Amino acid sequence: MLSIIIVLLVNLLIETSVSLTVKVPGDPVVSHVGSTMILPCWISPPESAEALEIRWYRHNQFSNPVLLYNHGKIQDVQEESHRNRSSLTLRSDQSGGLKDGDVSLRLEKLRVQDDGSFRCYVSGENSYSSEEVVLKITALGSSPVLSPKPLDDGRVNISCGSSGWYPEPSITWTSDEGRTLHPGGTSHSRGADKMFSVHSWTAVSLSDAQLVSCSVSLRSGELKEGRLNIQGIVSSGPWKALFLTFLICALLGSVGFILYKYREKLTGKKPVKEICDEETMERLSKEETNTEEPKKEPDCEEGTQQKLRKEVVEDVNIEELRKHAVEITINREIIHPDLMVTKDCKNMRDQPEYHHIGEEFPFQLCAFGAQSFSSGRHYWEVELVQMNTSPKNFWIIGVMKDGNSLLKNRSALTPSAGFWFLCSDGPYGFYTNTDSSIRFSLTPRPERLGVLLDYDDGQLSFYNVTENKHLLTISSRFSGSVVPLFNPGIRSLITILDCPKPVEPAESSQPLLSNNSDSGLTNEVKSEGLI
Ligand SMILES: *[C@@H]1O[C@H](CO)[C@@H](O)[C@H](O)[C@H]1NC(C)=O
Ligand SMILES: *[C@@H]1O[C@H](CO)[C@@H](O)[C@H](O)[C@H]1NC(C)=O
Ligand SMILES: *[C@@H]1O[C@H](CO)[C@@H](O)[C@H](O)[C@H]1NC(C)=O
Ligand SMILES: *[C@@H]1O[C@H](CO)[C@@H](O)[C@H](O)[C@H]1NC(C)=O
Ligand SMILES: *[C@@H]1O[C@H](CO)[C@@H](O)[C@H](O)[C@H]1NC(C)=O
Repeated sequence: MLSIIIVLLVNLLIETSVSLTVKVPGDPVVSHVGSTMILPCWISPPESAEALEIRWYRHNQFSNPVLLYNHGKIQDVQEESHRNRSSLTLRSDQSGGLKDGDVSLRLEKLRVQDDGSFRCYVSGENSYSSEEVVLKITALGSSPVLSPKPLDDGRVNISCGSSGWYPEPSITWTSDEGRTLHPGGTSHSRGADKMFSVHSWTAVSLSDAQLVSCSVSLRSGELKEGRLNIQGIVSSGPWKALFLTFLICALLGSVGFILYKYREKLTGKKPVKEICDEETMERLSKEETNTEEPKKEPDCEEGTQQKLRKEVVEDVNIEELRKHAVEITINREIIHPDLMVTKDCKNMRDQPEYHHIGEEFPFQLCAFGAQSFSSGRHYWEVELVQMNTSPKNFWIIGVMKDGNSLLKNRSALTPSAGFWFLCSDGPYGFYTNTDSSIRFSLTPRPERLGVLLDYDDGQLSFYNVTENKHLLTISSRFSGSVVPLFNPGIRSLITILDCPKPVEPAESSQPLLSNNSDSGLTNEVKSEGLI
């Protein structure tokens, strides 16, 4: 009996002395259907995983894994639906890979079925450890299609439909004054591809609203919107209205084609003022949303207007953005004592002797621009890579309410407190500080980031300058004046660049298509910037 206890104790001692622990990010990883995602998982403290067993699996599918690495190589036992889509990868550019205990999973061509948790299991001779990473899949559906049907009582029955969403979207109706209109009925359905479709109708009279908007949105804040002006429809007969609807659709279709053709010249438009007013939301447009150089909301007074959202991967014309370039310098008066700023007020980093305690991002290491803005559009660029190194892992770039004091901790950094930013937090990926934070990964990391502040429209957009790509837009409502915000993280430099400013004037607000067509019907495509 005693000997059994001794054996057990000895076993226990051996096990604890060589125990290993894996770590994963605390928050879910969010990604779009079709994209590639990294599910980070690593051994802490670092230890080589080359001789260990690494098993990624779902739910209780231990013996049917998404990926199995054993005896020094990936075993050919992958679960059917993940075959050829999964591999081991680095969780960041700085990672030493398997040798340093990085066992992160790369999953390509994401499907709706990948939504949910993945278990990262690592086993050595005497001990094992496992943790779960949650993957949230989203899919942005088609632009809502609105169609009116005049009713006998003088009202119009407008129906709105959109498909290709995940998870289930919500649909809201609003009038031109931003009032919510009550839907007469709403139905959701799910296709064989597991995507959701939504359909809703509402009956309105001219006294309720002239311009009716239907917006389909995900909980993350990503949305698509369509609008319809009912003025011409109520006054004319039903057949005329139907014919005109058809005409508008045809026109929009051809305009869409033109836009697609000229997309590198175009920048789009974020139309949803009403919704932005309600709450902060952001749009992530790595895969399918369009790039947007916002302009002042043209007020939709007359004519039927519908928004056209482009589904294609959209490039931006950085030259267009640079028309709004402003020179930004660091305000040396109020920098954190652990930061250094060069004489030209363009470069900043932490003091060499600065010692960062803890694992959390050093949120307090902030510097602000000397320029403040309370209207208009302003653009600046930041360099995130120094000669012969890989792009920085840790930084914050955004804007802040002028006069805010130095930052303390993350919980205090909210839009309502006057902070709006994108944070690159090493292995934890990128996230925004908005109320429903969007977290995502970008590989490779951007080397040069463009920032467009559109004060009047309440938008802060980020661009990958090297590749002319729109990354995401944060929408909010700014009040008072705001100043650029920078945090260089630790151990490397951030440089504010001087953008070459194009010579042409900065106005580009001519709509591509505008008022014309008889009987007061008009359609407008809010994707201006075509030159
Ligand atoms: C995986 O790739 C191999 C070789 O490229 C191919 O033969 C096989 O059909 C693929 N399997 C799946 C499930 O796509
Ligand atoms: C409005 O149109 C929808 C179909 O799009 C229909 O289901 C609904 O009954 C109509 N409502 C009225 C009041 O006619
Ligand atoms: C963060 O800051 C807020 C407000 O300044 C404070 O109430 C809170 O206790 C702080 N939290 C931590 C963990 O320091
Ligand atoms: C962004 O920029 C980097 C280099 O600056 C590039 O390698 C990367 O692929 C770019 N694309 C996206 C979509 O982030
Ligand atoms: C819109 O209509 C007004 C008045 O008819 C006209 O002056 C203006 O040029 C038109 N705009 C466009 C872009 O066609």
